[in-house]
Amino acid sequence: MRCSGLPEPAASKPVAFRRALLGWYEAVRRDLPWRESTDFYTVWISEIMLQQTRVEAVIPYYQRFLERFPDLAALAAAPEQDVLAAWSGLGYYSRARNLQRAAKQVVAEGMPATHEEILRLPGIGVYTAAAVASISLNLPYAAVDGNVIRVVSRLTNDASESSAPAARRRFAETAQLLLDARRPGDFNQAMMELGATICKPANPLCGECPVARFCAAREAGTERELPVKLRKQQTREVPLHLLLLRREGELFLIQRQSAARRLADFWELPELPAAPSTRRHRLVAGFSHQIVNDRFRVSVWEPPSDAPPEGGRWVPEAELATLPLTTITRKALSLSQRNPQSVVPV
Ligand code: ADE
Repeated sequence: MRCSGLPEPAASKPVAFRRALLGWYEAVRRDLPWRESTDFYTVWISEIMLQQTRVEAVIPYYQRFLERFPDLAALAAAPEQDVLAAWSGLGYYSRARNLQRAAKQVVAEGMPATHEEILRLPGIGVYTAAAVASISLNLPYAAVDGNVIRVVSRLTNDASESSAPAARRRFAETAQLLLDARRPGDFNQAMMELGATICKPANPLCGECPVARFCAAREAGTERELPVKLRKQQTREVPLHLLLLRREGELFLIQRQSAARRLADFWELPELPAAPSTRRHRLVAGFSHQIVNDRFRVSVWEPPSDAPPEGGRWVPEAELATLPLTTITRKALSLSQRNPQSVVPV
């Protein structure tokens, strides 16, 4: 009970904090498809997809992926191309490749039963191991991602630069101390939910926060200044000119070489070295697409003839759904079909 005007620091009242947080979570938690089961495979797939990707973007991919690969054995046995095709559009494709390597490892060695065994799987770091271990195996590990760092830095009014190793360690220790070891999966998801829906980066909804009374930043009025982050790297503008070649029901695509690791084996539209100099090319789509610090300004051009450049092949349009396409290629195809008349150059 709060008697004075002082906050009750969460770390000194972990039991009351847990009760408030979990009570709120039970009342408002979103019905997300991966919350229907604590099965290791489905929890693991969801946590890998949720790395660097928003919940709303993940949902349809998660559902399609599980239809296509309903269990570990199906994923382990599938051709890599099929796994990449199912991932196509989600980005950060090393996640899909690692997922399959990990599935093969589990099929060969058996299911992981501890946090450490989960951590040994390809593509799984400390955060994902803790999330999967807690949600699926009920093991008491706090999962500390960007959302949780924001929540903890505010609860403790900690203005340290949040990526500094000592600060990271402190945030992780506090999260671990707060964790409800009897319900670690619910607790971790409640912290994520709080970070995503209430304790938001720019506009925290403190008036609706179930744990506002434990929050030292709220008391000090510093919640909007936390967590303290290093300045972001500048975004680079990258012009990209793509060639859209079509002939009766076919498109011309090029497959990236395996030597260039990023997006190796993905299919994409051929690239022009610069904007076409002739007026006979028609601009059929223009959009931007950001990958980490690069903002690609993409222009899609239809050439006057269907003579293809070197390499690549004509692909029947019916086959496109089964090929791993880069996200830029997907956007280019969808926009150039939808919007052929009104293109704004980028
Ligand atoms: N982000 C990462 N893991 C999540 C989960 N299990 N639920 C909602 N958002 C998440």
